[in-house]
Amino acid sequence: MQEINSLISSFIKELDYEPILQMYERISTGKMLRSKLIMAIAGSSENAINLCAIVEMIHLASLLHDDVIDEADTRRGTPSINALYGTKDAVMLGDVLYSKAFSKLSGFAPEISNKISNAVAGLSVGELMDVRLGDGFSVDVEAYWRMIYLKTAILIEASAYSAAVLAGFDADKFGVYGKSLGLAFQIIDDVLDITQSSEVLGKPALNDFSEGKTTLPYIYLYERLGESDKERLKSLYKKSLSYDEVMWLKKVMRESGAINECVNRAKTLAAEALEAISEYKNEKLQSIIKNMIDREF
Ligand code: FPP
Ligand code: MG
Repeated sequence: MQEINSLISSFIKELDYEPILQMYERISTGKMLRSKLIMAIAGSSENAINLCAIVEMIHLASLLHDDVIDEADTRRGTPSINALYGTKDAVMLGDVLYSKAFSKLSGFAPEISNKISNAVAGLSVGELMDVRLGDGFSVDVEAYWRMIYLKTAILIEASAYSAAVLAGFDADKFGVYGKSLGLAFQIIDDVLDITQSSEVLGKPALNDFSEGKTTLPYIYLYERLGESDKERLKSLYKKSLSYDEVMWLKKVMRESGAINECVNRAKTLAAEALEAISEYKNEKLQSIIKNMIDREF
């Protein structure tokens, strides 16, 4: 992962403007799931490492813009770039990262460059859908699935697909793995927002609902509540919650079975991901799934 980060730094140095590097260095690195996936499929060839750097730059750019859109002050437990430098710099740093990534992507075969660039277009549509869905309380489960596929899973799908092209494997099968992994990952992220503390999350807990995101646990919860509790839930939408409201929400999320149902959906998707690539017996891909699923919720 260190090699990938150094490569990104060297791409940024090619731009020959010190403030960009300074700002880039203030971004805290995440789990680098997409790179782990690419390397688990395609190994550590020069092409694979370049692809990792490209995908991480696109992902970082999307998070910089997302933090502006969500007006988020923290990312991964540290101040967001918009909090440190203001929204203008955060938007422009995002622009620099993804345009440099595309310039490097143009050196790849069309099958890969098309897949990744189409995924980024999808990513942007997904973010727009997410913002639109945030206009009001929404329990439209089909809209939720479509939005999380585009916002989260499509770039993971394209990463796995492209890595398989590099390795000469059946890319469609790895695409299915990536898509199912991506969907499961987003559901788990939505569950952890409710069940974990802000210290563990590195951002405020129970943040999604107050940001206007009616995620899958809230959709399942709504379906399970009686009429008066349904109204109570709706009344908490986009509110900053009191201690009693937090306790009520956490209690009904567990007692209604909404959390369990989400975890089960994520586990089913994880099993589908593994099934798609079972013939390859790739232990690293198996452990990526296991690390995501085998935990306390
Ligand atoms: C995080 O969602 C957001 C994304 C994964 C995608 C954001 C995509 C864009 C802003 C499109 C623009 C793309 C480029 C390349 C500039 P979240 O807010 O639900 O999660 P969070 O809790 O991590 O903020
Ligand atoms: Mg966000």
